[in-house]
Amino acid sequence: MGENAAMAAELIRINLGCGRKYLDGWVNCDVVSTVRADRYFDLEKFPYPFEDGSATEILMDNVLEHLEDIPGTMTELHRILAPGGTVLIKVPYGKSDWALQDPTHKHYFTERSMDYFTVGHEYSFYSEARFECLEARLVADSTTLRHVMRNLIPFRSILRYFLFNLYDGVHFRLRKP
Ligand SMILES: C[S@@+](CC[C@H](N)C(=O)[O-])C[C@H]1O[C@@H](n2cnc3c(N)ncnc32)[C@H](O)[C@@H]1O
Repeated sequence: MGENAAMAAELIRINLGCGRKYLDGWVNCDVVSTVRADRYFDLEKFPYPFEDGSATEILMDNVLEHLEDIPGTMTELHRILAPGGTVLIKVPYGKSDWALQDPTHKHYFTERSMDYFTVGHEYSFYSEARFECLEARLVADSTTLRHVMRNLIPFRSILRYFLFNLYDGVHFRLRKP
């Protein structure tokens, strides 16, 4: 095996705040010892126990909204990612019940929220992290009849500027250049 292949073999995928979604082949992390994880630590405390540039992929599935320091967290994700690595962040959409009903949520997001951590944004000085945004997508749930009926409403992508609960989540995929 060449040196480059050996280095690539050491790169990991990290599932931060895994909860009950333990993913095989990933390093699953949480702070709560009652869930199955590979590592237990507090995402509010920096640095996380990973080397610089050690991950090809990071997943934060409905976790970021629970954390206090968003710029600090984005800086830490950027540190851990290898160049070209990606992070998938799933959060509740700020204009939805999913975002507001949980009293432990500390932050609210729209599809523009990660612009603040991307190359060239006027307020990108919040953090030293600079990502490329590969995707910022509004997500509409369809697991209940109420959601299925809501999804029939036309012009939702425009109406969402004025109305509530037209989408439920936002998915961001960011790449470290
Ligand atoms: C809403 S759950 C999502 C769990 C899982 N990712 C999923 O999609 O089902 C949020 C998770 O983040 C974890 N979490 C919240 N604050 C945390 C912190 N400060 N450090 C580590 N994990 C944290 C919780 O323990 C919980 O497992």
